[in-house]
Amino acid sequence: MRNRPEWLSNAVFYEIYPQSFLDTDGDGIGNINGITEKLPYIRNLGCNAIWLNPCFDSPFGDAGYDVSDYYKVAPRYGTNEDLATLFAEAHKLGMHVLLDFVPGHTSWKHPWFTESMKASTNEFTDRYIWTDSVWEEAPGYGSLRGISDRDGSCIVNFFTHQPALNYGFYKPDRPWQQPMDSEGAMATRNAMKDVMAFWLSLGCDGFRVDMAGSLVKNDEDSKGTIALWQDVRSFLDERFPEAVLVSEWGEPDKSIEGGFHMDFLLHFGPSHYNDLFRCEKPFFGGEGDAAAFVGKYLESYRKAAGRGLICIPSGNHDMDRLARHIRGDRAKMAFAFLLSMPGAPFLYYGDEIGMRYVENLTSVEGGYGRTGSRSPMQWDASEGAGFSTGPKENYYIPLDPDSGRPNAAEQLADGDSLLNEVKKLIGIRQAHKALGNDGAITFVCDGAKGKPLAYFRTSGDEKILVVINPAKEEWTVPFEGATGELLYSLGEQPVYAAGRLSVPGGTACFWEVMHE
Ligand code: NOJ
Repeated sequence: MRNRPEWLSNAVFYEIYPQSFLDTDGDGIGNINGITEKLPYIRNLGCNAIWLNPCFDSPFGDAGYDVSDYYKVAPRYGTNEDLATLFAEAHKLGMHVLLDFVPGHTSWKHPWFTESMKASTNEFTDRYIWTDSVWEEAPGYGSLRGISDRDGSCIVNFFTHQPALNYGFYKPDRPWQQPMDSEGAMATRNAMKDVMAFWLSLGCDGFRVDMAGSLVKNDEDSKGTIALWQDVRSFLDERFPEAVLVSEWGEPDKSIEGGFHMDFLLHFGPSHYNDLFRCEKPFFGGEGDAAAFVGKYLESYRKAAGRGLICIPSGNHDMDRLARHIRGDRAKMAFAFLLSMPGAPFLYYGDEIGMRYVENLTSVEGGYGRTGSRSPMQWDASEGAGFSTGPKENYYIPLDPDSGRPNAAEQLADGDSLLNEVKKLIGIRQAHKALGNDGAITFVCDGAKGKPLAYFRTSGDEKILVVINPAKEEWTVPFEGATGELLYSLGEQPVYAAGRLSVPGGTACFWEVMHE
């Protein structure tokens, strides 16, 4: 295992979309002070780390993933001092905060881009990737054309208003494609190191890195991008050895090689993550099939070889809400899985109360179909859900209009709520190293149609069997020469008799193996 801060061993993350968490100044948009105010709520849930979506100055064409000033908190969220206070208060509670770092592109309103669009050569001419002529587009990439005095097309990364920063090409094959070690590409890399150093010096604990695998272009096997991140890691190791990096890459073998501590399994790419939670027949719905997911997971797990953590999130700001597909006991079962897998768990704000996807919303700030997963946090049963001191008509995104929408206050008071189940599961995870981030996993059953997901989690002498059985059928496993202790069960309890453990359909359990 690469050097990494101690706290990652039992980190459970909570992802916060700052716009929608808590608004303490009544403008209908969440802010940093609102997050600081709710730290005890997050800590009480058992989460001890935060991933904060982008909070930097931006024209908000993509909810802040279009940065116009890397060094400044967007005024609607507060000030840099407010953010420093959030870091300090989190640390007092034994918590850590990762910022969202977007190194691949900026907003087209970023002053660097304004300079880069000029016909005359200047410091930022090579900050972005331009072809030599407006009539030539970069093959395989989208582009911005016809908006500058400069003659050229500029590569974009995501939306057209997000021009791609220049980290060079792994294999340049056109005159305008600069190598990775060219002056312009190195200047971009150094500028980004400076940004990281700035926030780390202010007290943040590291970064979730947006589109981390996409920086170097024409880089089919990601060799260039991996080398670039290795260089960034060396820089951090020298100056900020405690800085944590998690990548939005979705290929743990590559990202971990690049020096990331953790990578996400995502709703896109090869992970089969959606088979579990978000498809026509998700595994946790009871009729799905998890076998392809397990196959892919094991492949990544072997390649990562204990050098880093593979993180399976409950959701995030880019995918529809878990509760759109899975509710009630099935949601508890999904959390029993998420909170008993290796790697650091990531809970998307509101998933702990089963917040729903709000259907049919008009897109807000480039959210499009993602907007329904970004609605204001539902803190209580009041008309405005306790999200803001201002009127609900001004909310950044409309509230879930359902009168029966879940809320945190009621769930905190209800021992059977999803929130309290999540809290219980985090507690069990943190009390048992085998269930924790670094415990090993061996699958006993791969969740093929009609079958449960069953796996041993182990650490030292501790061995725990986890069975998640959303299917109808009971599942029985031989348990020869061993007895056990039930650490957790959801629904009807499993039965242990004559060396066999029987787990009824529609239930889940954690069974600690005790050798006689
Ligand atoms: C991934 C982010 O999660 C998403 O919200 C954003 O739109 C794109 N990257 C572009 O930065």
